[in-house]
Amino acid sequence: MSKNYQRYMVTAALPYANGPKHIGHLAGAYIPADVYVRYLRLNNKDVVFVSGSDEHGTAIPNQALKENTTPKAIIDKYHELIRDCFEKLGMSFDIYHRTSEQIHHETSQEFFLQMHKKGLLTEETSEQYYDDEAKVFLADRYIVGTCPKCGHTNAYGDQCEKCGSTLSPSELINPRSTLSGKPPVLRPTKHWYLPLQKYEGWLKEWILVSHKEDWRANVYGQCKSWIDAGLQPRAMTRDLDWGIKVPLPNAEGKVLYVWFDAPIGYISATRALFSELAKGKKEFSTPKRDFGKVAADDWKKYWQDEETKLVHFIGKDNIVFHCIIFPIMLHAEGEYIVPDNVPANEFMNLEGDKMSTSRGWSIEMHEYLEDFPDKPDVLRYALLTNLPETKDSEFTWRDFQSKNNNELVAIFGNFVNRALVLTQKYFDNKIPPVGALTEVDKKVIAELKEFPSRIAASIEGYRFREATASLMDLARLGNKYLAETEPWKLSKTDMSRVGTILNLALQISANLAVVCEPFLPFTSRKLKEMLAQGNTDWANTGSANLLKEGHQLGEPKLLFEKIEDSVIEAQIKKLNDKKNAMELASTPADPAKPEVSFDDFSKMDIRIGKILKAEAVEKSKKLLKLQVDTGIDVRTVMSGIAEHFSPESIIGKQVTLLVNLAPRKIMGIESQGMILMASDKDGKLRMLQPSEAVAQGSKVS
Ligand code: 2FM
Ligand code: ZN
Repeated sequence: MSKNYQRYMVTAALPYANGPKHIGHLAGAYIPADVYVRYLRLNNKDVVFVSGSDEHGTAIPNQALKENTTPKAIIDKYHELIRDCFEKLGMSFDIYHRTSEQIHHETSQEFFLQMHKKGLLTEETSEQYYDDEAKVFLADRYIVGTCPKCGHTNAYGDQCEKCGSTLSPSELINPRSTLSGKPPVLRPTKHWYLPLQKYEGWLKEWILVSHKEDWRANVYGQCKSWIDAGLQPRAMTRDLDWGIKVPLPNAEGKVLYVWFDAPIGYISATRALFSELAKGKKEFSTPKRDFGKVAADDWKKYWQDEETKLVHFIGKDNIVFHCIIFPIMLHAEGEYIVPDNVPANEFMNLEGDKMSTSRGWSIEMHEYLEDFPDKPDVLRYALLTNLPETKDSEFTWRDFQSKNNNELVAIFGNFVNRALVLTQKYFDNKIPPVGALTEVDKKVIAELKEFPSRIAASIEGYRFREATASLMDLARLGNKYLAETEPWKLSKTDMSRVGTILNLALQISANLAVVCEPFLPFTSRKLKEMLAQGNTDWANTGSANLLKEGHQLGEPKLLFEKIEDSVIEAQIKKLNDKKNAMELASTPADPAKPEVSFDDFSKMDIRIGKILKAEAVEKSKKLLKLQVDTGIDVRTVMSGIAEHFSPESIIGKQVTLLVNLAPRKIMGIESQGMILMASDKDGKLRMLQPSEAVAQGSKVS
């Protein structure tokens, strides 16, 4: 059960800096966390929000191999890219740190040493996979094989990216090294283990009893099945040359397990933040924050004081690490608090298929920003209305368009624009006075009052979809109010009534400007500018008196713009093209045929010809009967291409053909040559044509 806390420590998963991150990641951990934190700040809560790059583990050197560069170059490149995208999408971290920073290496090593000193780790020698050719042990993602849970043939030694299961290398079927591609051998090696099973009693009490009610069912369920299955000791070190050195003698070549150091990254980030704050190099992002003078050691309050509410925002593949392993580390170490909640999301699919960067079926954050640089809030909104909070959800470009056109433009933008434009027209852009209130006015004021607490309850309960729906309902309330009262029809007869209506419509707009800030921060800023509105605390919203009579408004501008069908169609095409290109690039070519001599090759007479006639062949689905001008003659060629080309589409086309192939009868018709085609993995055929038209009969050699 959750209690009343004095301060908040909020973390969003540290993404691996091994590649760009897609909008599914955004929906999983970052946008919900950002909404939560912005809401807390509007309530003047003492909150620290951290994230950063996870720069260790085998994912990094593996990517370096693929890009033919160094692990350092990989982390520098992707840290920069991801950080920049997060900033452009409005993620309001107090710090976006890196696990390659010195302070993180020190913090993790101290943590490890502390656990070691307290006798919390056991030293064990076991047989592990080793690549005899590369002469290294194959930790985690250096090994791939078939997933025992879903049959995916490229599952990693620590996780299957297809079904999300957490794995260990020994579970993989037909394991092979990513370094040499060979099956590994077993060799003994020594490591330090965390005996998770010792903490089963504590975990049962902490999660299964205390958090039965307030944790999400999916998170609780996953934890329960891990605990019920019986916990095993888990190695906290690896044989690798990339990572944080194990700070013990006789630990040559050993580094900390990435899932040991990465979550400690949250602590190091907080330490780094307070070190900067104490030096006056940085300012807290909480407005009106006055929690006393900041000292470098203050990070401890956020990690070691029971009055702090620790919340981890993550995707479902990270649940075991944030709910079982890291909390055991924190609890066992002794000085630390454990999370109050871990509102993990399920996965977001894309246009009917699982999102995957490696398969090209993804919208990467930077790709979105390149195409829609002025629309960060549209993406935030489309994702928020569709968060995979209780089950997997789906992003489609059509839904994105509809959320923009039918909700942001037609409801939110339209309402605010009508209120502002009419005020400019009738009241010289100043807030008009309120006259006598009608029943409709009283009703709208009463309904307005309810919204902030309703939205707050949804946010505090980590129901961000519901919160976003209520936000749009507030705009809907305003829209309905204008539709009912029709101030544009009253301007000739009752200006005082028009004033009252617009005053209330502008009060609703001012409320929207504040309560939309966690969800749509860029829109909030723009709307506040249009209303010439200062900062308002969440606590003061719900009031129909946010803007005073006579207050001078700013210039009305459109908050959102319609997205045309052609833009969406182009995105769908781009997505399919990317997947196809990726598939082609990753398809291995068939092995070469046995060698032929030059003489053998030169016996073949290959020419460019032109198709003069093409017709279907009776009783054959596959064959087309072609008349081809070979430059030498016009001849009949029977070609098995009917399933790939219609006769009309190829007439007049130049093709490549073997003209001295011995004639043979096909379906009773003599074929005098063979058209050459390129066929891809799926057997799809493409014509081989010269890059520019050449004379019929030109030789190919
Ligand atoms: O799954 C991932 O991308 C991990 N890099 C998340 C780490 S979260 C935390 F523990 F740092
Ligand atoms: Zn799987």
